[in-house]
Amino acid sequence: MASAKSLKILFVTSEVVPFVKTGGLADVSSALPQKLQELGHQVRIVVPKYGSIDERKYKIHEVVRLKDLTTMIGKKEVVYSLRSSFLVGSKARVQIYFLDNDEYFGSRHSLYRDPVKGNNFKDNDERFILLSKSVFELIDKLGWVPDVIHINDWQTSLIPAYQKTLYKDNEQFKNIKTLLTIHNIGQQGIFPKTSFSKTGLPDTLNNNNGILFKDKVNFLKTGLKYADTISTVSESYSKEICKIPEISGGLKAEINCRKKDLFGIVNGIDPLIWNPEKDKIIAKKFSSTSLINKLTNKEELADKFGLDYEPEIPTIGMISRLEDDKGFDLLKKTFKEIMALDIKFVLLGTGEKKYHKFFEEAEMKYANKFACYLGFDDDLAHLIEAGSDMFLMPSKYEPCGLNQMYSLVYGTIPIVRKTGGLADTVENYDAKTKKGNGFVFTKYDSKDLLSVINKALTLYQDKKAWERLMKAGMKVDFSWLKSAKNYVSLYKNILK
Ligand code: GLC
Repeated sequence: MASAKSLKILFVTSEVVPFVKTGGLADVSSALPQKLQELGHQVRIVVPKYGSIDERKYKIHEVVRLKDLTTMIGKKEVVYSLRSSFLVGSKARVQIYFLDNDEYFGSRHSLYRDPVKGNNFKDNDERFILLSKSVFELIDKLGWVPDVIHINDWQTSLIPAYQKTLYKDNEQFKNIKTLLTIHNIGQQGIFPKTSFSKTGLPDTLNNNNGILFKDKVNFLKTGLKYADTISTVSESYSKEICKIPEISGGLKAEINCRKKDLFGIVNGIDPLIWNPEKDKIIAKKFSSTSLINKLTNKEELADKFGLDYEPEIPTIGMISRLEDDKGFDLLKKTFKEIMALDIKFVLLGTGEKKYHKFFEEAEMKYANKFACYLGFDDDLAHLIEAGSDMFLMPSKYEPCGLNQMYSLVYGTIPIVRKTGGLADTVENYDAKTKKGNGFVFTKYDSKDLLSVINKALTLYQDKKAWERLMKAGMKVDFSWLKSAKNYVSLYKNILK
């Protein structure tokens, strides 16, 4: 038990910045462990070593005790190693273990999907069973026993079930508590019933009371059922998943069973990485007292995207996974009208094939108005935040969202839908009281989206009011400190 103040936390995740990233989970998996360690706790991270992770650059080395470990996945014997490196921040150095297995991870550059076919890898069940099981071997072989295993999303959600069944007699694991953080309940890790035998879990769990949901293996549901405590990445989202069936991803009843163990802690942002005064990636640093320099970034942004630079015309930026739940169906519906406005529009992201096609065509159709980069590029992400005037997030639902916070601190006004973390971090601008820091629409409707964009464009014409709005956003403190402290209280609460 953790009676002393300092806690040991094993943080298990499927992506971590700067090694590998598809979404906000990677940012959280980097910033939160560092902040916890800064606060005096011991944190170690486990993540798969995908083929795209540069071993040399990150000095990933072998650990003799963690070499050539074996486990069974169904009837297949799998050999893997855990190798080690550090996540080096400014103040904290967090030890990170990379799960190394060529077949499942090393030979593939992308994380969850086949980049050519666009669908999920067929053996995602086996890949993340391996990640879950490796955690117990790691603890056993190292003799480093955490107080809490902090797991994230479906990829790590079998861990509590393993602890409470397969590994329940191992003395070392007995007192460990588990916290599941849900970053997105829409992704659940659903596999056919036949996947059950691969897990190695006892047959008593092979039903809808155990790890199945609607007769399919469901990783996230398993986490929901067996984790000691559950959290989501904003207050509003934690309430929405209990109440709104579409947002709960069909798991409303399951969540409500755990309602008393469910907490909402909003994510923070890393002020060393996302800070216009210190950002080395952007064209020119700026602050609320040197806003003129933001224009240099606007120019560079136009240049990078091959658009003519027209300083007076507002640029709307967007960085997102191209998926329905991020509001792309809405955007697609209104795109023609949006393109009729006097704006420039830049988009960065990857996702569903239908959207790749749509935006590739749009780029040709609306040359010099719309441009996109359908991939992941961190440098470009920084430049979009720095060089845009407005940032669009019309999400159907949004567990937390980070880009609206990055936007605010870069003086880029967010235009968002009132849902989840967006509702918790962006306040609609009220022309009368002059309160608020962005533009918010409520109904998931293309007309409302268009109307809120128009409101923003109107205010943009009022230079003074716009500048005031920019400065208000740039002042907000979104640092991790408060949220990390909330996690510590939550850990301590579980350990009581
Ligand atoms: C997921 C969610 C996003 C959240 C992020 C980090 O990507 O969709 O809203 O900010 O996880 O928690």
